[in-house]
Amino acid sequence: MENLVAVVTGGTRGIGLRIAESLVRRGTSVAVTYCSNDSAAEEARRKLGAHLKKDQKTHFVKGDSGNPDVVAEHYHEIHKALGPVNILINNAGIMTARSFDEITVEDWNETIRINLSGAFYWCRQVVPAMKKMKYGRIVNISSIAARGGGVVGPHYAASKAGMVGMTRYAAKELGPHGITVNAIAPAFIEDAGIFLDWSEKKKAILKEKVFVPRIGKANDVVRAFEYLIDSPFVTGVTLDVNGGAFMI
Ligand SMILES: NC(=O)c1ccc[n+]([C@@H]2O[C@H](COP(=O)([O-])OP(=O)(O)OC[C@H]3O[C@@H](n4cnc5c(N)ncnc54)[C@H](OP(=O)(O)O)[C@@H]3O)[C@@H](O)[C@H]2O)c1
Repeated sequence: MENLVAVVTGGTRGIGLRIAESLVRRGTSVAVTYCSNDSAAEEARRKLGAHLKKDQKTHFVKGDSGNPDVVAEHYHEIHKALGPVNILINNAGIMTARSFDEITVEDWNETIRINLSGAFYWCRQVVPAMKKMKYGRIVNISSIAARGGGVVGPHYAASKAGMVGMTRYAAKELGPHGITVNAIAPAFIEDAGIFLDWSEKKKAILKEKVFVPRIGKANDVVRAFEYLIDSPFVTGVTLDVNGGAFMI
């Protein structure tokens, strides 16, 4: 992993930050994107900076990954600062709970735009250079919602299932160029996103849905991520990191 360059979208908090930490510990230079939370970005910069070795860098860019012009700008800035990107983790996402009764067209479009289209915009930017290098690793962070529907709503389930379809297609087209494309479908990661604010009482309900004695941690997703980037013969798969809770 040394001398490689990675982009982690939404890498300032939760699962993305833990993946960025894993990459930095392995000697990779890491670009981190985020949307608006500058204080989380500052804290992430400090955390990642503590592990940097000589000739290893981080680079932070702020903006909406659901906007193709912003993604193109970010890509060029990162290329200039760190060099061509070898590893992409499409992790940035929003999880706004809406039932069929509540959801508006704006809710639907916003979630598809950020979670699914944003991942496509990033793939489109990094693939040409990966092809030239004959090496690339793309990992898309999907969700259990792509498998069993989940509890967030139709917009979220569709965005995450779309990532799985894109992963399979990309694996087929890009495999001959030395690029693997995989997805991870986590569930109930208690130290990330919406679950951070949940009380122990509320989390006990999630515990009943899994087969193992505890719910997930961001580190469980990091283990799956490390397996995927270390495995040149594994492509087009979606790894379920959900304690057995496949159908919720
Ligand atoms: N937590 C779980 O249990 C769980 C389960 C299944 C799947 N997932 C998926 O895993 C991924 C990470 O989830 P998480 O829980 O770690 O999330 P999180 O803690 O809420 O962090 C989200 C990250 O994405 C960034 N982001 C959000 N909207 C963005 C946008 N439009 N453009 C650029 N960056 C944006 C945020 O930046 P700001 O801080 O600036 O907003 C932040 O860095 C998501 O795709 C989520 O759907 C999570």
